[in-house]
Amino acid sequence: MSTVFAPGALLHDHDRWDDDPSPRMLRCSRIVARTPHISTFEFVSDDRRALPRAAGQYVTVSADIDGERVSRCYTVSSPPTRPYSVQLTVKREADGVFSRWLHDTLQVGDRLELSGPAGEFSTAFHPSERVLLLAAGVGITPMIAVLEALHDLGDGTDAVLLHNSHDPSSVVFERELSALAERNDTIRVVQAVSVDPAGTWAGPVGRLDAEMLTQHVPDLTTREVFVCGPDAYMQHAVALLEELGVPVERIHVESFVLAEIAPPEVNDTAGAPGHTVSFARSGKSVVIAEGETVLQAAKQVGIRIMTSCQNGLCGTCKIVKIAGEVDIAHNGGIRQREIDAGKILACCSRPKGPVEVDV
Ligand code: FES
Repeated sequence: MSTVFAPGALLHDHDRWDDDPSPRMLRCSRIVARTPHISTFEFVSDDRRALPRAAGQYVTVSADIDGERVSRCYTVSSPPTRPYSVQLTVKREADGVFSRWLHDTLQVGDRLELSGPAGEFSTAFHPSERVLLLAAGVGITPMIAVLEALHDLGDGTDAVLLHNSHDPSSVVFERELSALAERNDTIRVVQAVSVDPAGTWAGPVGRLDAEMLTQHVPDLTTREVFVCGPDAYMQHAVALLEELGVPVERIHVESFVLAEIAPPEVNDTAGAPGHTVSFARSGKSVVIAEGETVLQAAKQVGIRIMTSCQNGLCGTCKIVKIAGEVDIAHNGGIRQREIDAGKILACCSRPKGPVEVDV
């Protein structure tokens, strides 16, 4: 059965898929090469169920690669206004197990497991009438989802995208972004390259700096700003924005560089009895030491909980707590109202006493 959504819901009601945490098997329906190293992989579900999400959110994909289960998080590059497919635009990294598998092995018709969506890097979570999207390289993926959604909905948000790429051959979505700007008075796109060896690039040439920013976005202090790209670029961009007077609370970054989650301080574990973790559905239980996580407890009794980042970011390990208290030291992978509703992240939840979970 297909699902019908009110248009606004596609940008703002991102919970339906999220509330069904079970992974979905999706089939690769199309592969489009964007640059020599970047391709878009499109997936659909065989049952033609919709895949609701907010523009800019990411999903976790899992596959068996060389006999091992491997999971990775990727931003969905297609807009939520096209909910019956999910497109992931991925750069092939020389040392990236999953990205190499996608580029070198995955064929149209192959299946992988997908869960999510997750993340709050989205205009849906930080709504504003005026936004600035700053992206470098393949960091364009959440931005094109946002811009295409704004276009599809005729939303009217005043959006400026400043996209920096290395050189003309590495620009992703050049044609699509130009077309969006041509068809929308409220969307402006500036595509810059760092180097232009052949001297053919019509746009700005050079790296992101204060001059480029203020020249192309003179009203940047009035905008909600979203930044996505390599770590060095993001640090540089955020420093520039702050220097130029953008309030820090209006700057949102998408990063998979995680804050180290330190286990809670335990004063004296000598002789500590530990905590019992019970898994209601499998009927197993185990006593773990103070400071160990629910995920560690599951591993000890051979229960598999799906994970990806294992650092409280991606939301893949979200499960329901039936009873007991835990400390959750997460990195944004769960929202307060989910915690209030009894959900926890297994990878970063440490029991404070006996705990029972619905696994
Ligand atoms: S595995 Fe990513 S939040 Fe737990």
